[in-house]
Amino acid sequence: MNWHEKIEKNVMLMAVLILITVSLGGLVEIVPLYNIEATIEKVDGVRPYSPLELRGRDIYIREGCYTCHSQMIRPFKDEVERYGHYSLAAESMYDHPFQWGSKRTGPDLARVGGKYSNDWHVAHLESPRQVVPESVMPPYAFLTKKNLDSSDVAARMETLQTLGVPYTAEQIANAEADLKAQTDPEEDTEGLLARYPKAEVANFDGNAGKVSEMDALVAYLQILGQMVDFTDLEAEDLRQY
Ligand code: HEC
Repeated sequence: MNWHEKIEKNVMLMAVLILITVSLGGLVEIVPLYNIEATIEKVDGVRPYSPLELRGRDIYIREGCYTCHSQMIRPFKDEVERYGHYSLAAESMYDHPFQWGSKRTGPDLARVGGKYSNDWHVAHLESPRQVVPESVMPPYAFLTKKNLDSSDVAARMETLQTLGVPYTAEQIANAEADLKAQTDPEEDTEGLLARYPKAEVANFDGNAGKVSEMDALVAYLQILGQMVDFTDLEAEDLRQY
């Protein structure tokens, strides 16, 4: 073991060899991540957000909801029992930027979709303490009064396209019409639902004829965690914890 003694007695040689070893290890771990397609396993049901959900997400970010809410269920027994199946990487693959968050003043929202009615969300967002007396969440009643600016939604989708979100030309061409259709159950929504399966069509804020920021935010909250169908998986997966 002569050579090993040499390395141990020569600080410079040891430093250089450590550097080479660590770099190799780093390359092996980091390089595959550059190819995102190979990194994130495709999961059935995950689709880009509908124009209305996308604008709702923008409002979620603008209002800083992520400072109190995470969107990442960790694979721990307590979290899986409280929130449902742990989050999959694919579920946030079209989120730019992702909303995993690092603070839970309020509950995790990754699977809040479908948990409450639209009316519940509107009442809660307008005045949280009216619904949950001990809540420390601020009220967002102004969202119901504010008209949603949908003029640039197609441009926003095109921007996301450059980041790898696979919006089609058809989806972008129909962006504004789809946005309005999702808030109006009277409209013909066949095209919308073909382009965005499982999108909830409703007059979310109860105010017909007007698309408010509240409509968009509630549409966004209602799709969270709803894209992937876990019904077959759930019982089997939960037993592992
Ligand atoms: C200051 C921290 C804070 C901020 C900011 C905040 N929330 Fe909350 N949120 C809470 C707390 C605490 C609760 C639990 C009590 C309650 O239900 O009101 C909660 C509950 C919720 C719930 C119900 C979750 C469940 O599973 O019961 C939703 C939905 C929600 N918030 C959405 C939002 C949205 C959307 C925004 C941004 C517009 C937001 N929150 C901003 C603290 C916050």
